[in-house]
Amino acid sequence: MCGIVGYIGPKEACPILINGLKRLEYRGYDSAGVALLHEGEIDVYKCKGRVVDLEQHLEAHDTRANVGMGHTRWATHGEPNDTNAHPHVSMNGLFAIVHNGIIENHALLKEKLQARGYSFRSETDTEVLANLIEYIYLKGKIDAEMAVRLALTKVVGAYGLVIMCKNEPDKLIVARKGSPLVIGVGQGEYFVASDATPIVEYTKNVIYLNDDDVAILKRDEMILKTVKNTPVSLSIHQVDIDINKIEKGGFPHFMLKEIFEQVNSIYDTIRGRVNVEASEIHLGGIAEIVPRMINARRVIIIGCGTSWHAGLVGEHMIESLARIPVEVEYASEFRYRNPIIFEDDIVIAISQSGETADTLAAIKYAKAHGATVLGICNVVGSSIARETEAGVYTHAGPEIGVASTKAFTAQISVLIMMALQLGHKKGTLPEELYQKYINELYNLPDKVKAILEKNNDIKEIAATYKDASNAIYLGRGCQYPVALEGALKLKEISYIHAEGYPAAEMKHGPIALIDEHMPVFAIATKDTYYDKIVSNIKEVQARKGHVIALVNPNDTLVNKLAEHLIEIPETLEFLSPVLNVIPLQLIAYHIAVMRGCDVDMPRNLAKSVTVE
Ligand code: AGP
Repeated sequence: MCGIVGYIGPKEACPILINGLKRLEYRGYDSAGVALLHEGEIDVYKCKGRVVDLEQHLEAHDTRANVGMGHTRWATHGEPNDTNAHPHVSMNGLFAIVHNGIIENHALLKEKLQARGYSFRSETDTEVLANLIEYIYLKGKIDAEMAVRLALTKVVGAYGLVIMCKNEPDKLIVARKGSPLVIGVGQGEYFVASDATPIVEYTKNVIYLNDDDVAILKRDEMILKTVKNTPVSLSIHQVDIDINKIEKGGFPHFMLKEIFEQVNSIYDTIRGRVNVEASEIHLGGIAEIVPRMINARRVIIIGCGTSWHAGLVGEHMIESLARIPVEVEYASEFRYRNPIIFEDDIVIAISQSGETADTLAAIKYAKAHGATVLGICNVVGSSIARETEAGVYTHAGPEIGVASTKAFTAQISVLIMMALQLGHKKGTLPEELYQKYINELYNLPDKVKAILEKNNDIKEIAATYKDASNAIYLGRGCQYPVALEGALKLKEISYIHAEGYPAAEMKHGPIALIDEHMPVFAIATKDTYYDKIVSNIKEVQARKGHVIALVNPNDTLVNKLAEHLIEIPETLEFLSPVLNVIPLQLIAYHIAVMRGCDVDMPRNLAKSVTVE
């Protein structure tokens, strides 16, 4: 996600933009920039880094202007640097644009524009749109607003846009599709931003744009229409929210916000990569590597913490669907145990931050021994993204909470797409099953939403166990890594000791821990291990352990054994970890809050462990 702010009115625009960008910085903080329209010129100032770095950069410049727009970036195309920072200016300098979203057909549009003499400075999809608007504006000899609307009819993807035109300095053009934009209605002035954060201190009157809305903002007038030029009636809302909360989107903590964002983040990970009609999966970042992956002797997955857990899920997916041997290694162990690495090995490094020192070092080790190394990262242009030969971005958006949540489900979503693509190309995956997975992937967001609607019920269960000293999480097959992840969430934010275990392993020792004080979270959704996990639950229940079971609707066995049931919508086996982890995230979150822990910044932890 990126942060957008725009202003047109009698005040100095720059301070409003900078102040607003600071309030939006939680949305993304790779780079920042402003465009100021002053005396017929568009002045653009932008740089890699935080908004304070931009603010310092601006001190040396004359930033007087009453029309302006700003942007703080969460990179999706093109690594974070000065050139890729927004605003972007069209080739002839007539248009400046800030954008939040993804132009999925940017490559095709770029080729067409290059064929018509357009050149590009950046790697971004946004600059393609700036040049497309200018091309249409000049070719059609039409006004800026119409050029914008016509250009948007050629765009596939999501956008929240603010656009200014050098030849029409009395207006800002705003458009929305898929990425939120809010307009603030002042006295003889208008504000626009990605959310109400930068606006509420100036006006409480806001208009929430809908998809396909286009707004033309002038000092004393606002025109609202659709991209197809149909007038749209204005509905002004009164917004009255606590600014301090707003950066969390109204949630008390970033972690809870990010748990709830999984309805969108999973969709954003899949969107544009799974084509149901064509029954195709396309992971652009590894397209050239896929032939090597198909013929790989083995895949080695490396990562730390939650990312390592995602790798364990990926092992089940890739071995079962693509029949390629997979090893999963803690990056920290891998780099020091003098592992045997073959040149035809494929190493997949998983990392949300893309900066984890152990993972980065393991990558370098694998590369030095001739393996092909791919990355699955959430931060574009991060060290791991740049160190690996190819990779897939998870598109989960900034994950601020130290405890990883939406990154985990995004990582699993990438891994299932990878496993399906490999299995389908290798012929190891029956067509019928491939089709089932392709269709079911897009059903995940709604099923995530259904689980999140049980948040209050899950909170009540959490309250029962908030004073526990220990907890055990049980799973089998691809639910075992989910059990590990659930245990990690609880221990890292509530400081309760928790262990994830393969359920069948309990009888080889850990079952000695079970007594009437021990909560046991058991993942018992329907899959090939269901009957066996039911037996394991019976073993726990017989020793007075308190069983909290994750089950599918209409379960007739576990409901007689567990003290608490959390119903999970049915899905296909290797998609179920995406759903099953969510109640475990919520359990950990609520227990931590009830225990008065600092959920977003737990003691002793950091969001990215950039040291050994
Ligand atoms: C997960 O909740 C923790 N914050 C931690 O285990 C994390 O997953 C680990 O440090 C790896 O981080 P990365 O994904 O950014 O490499």
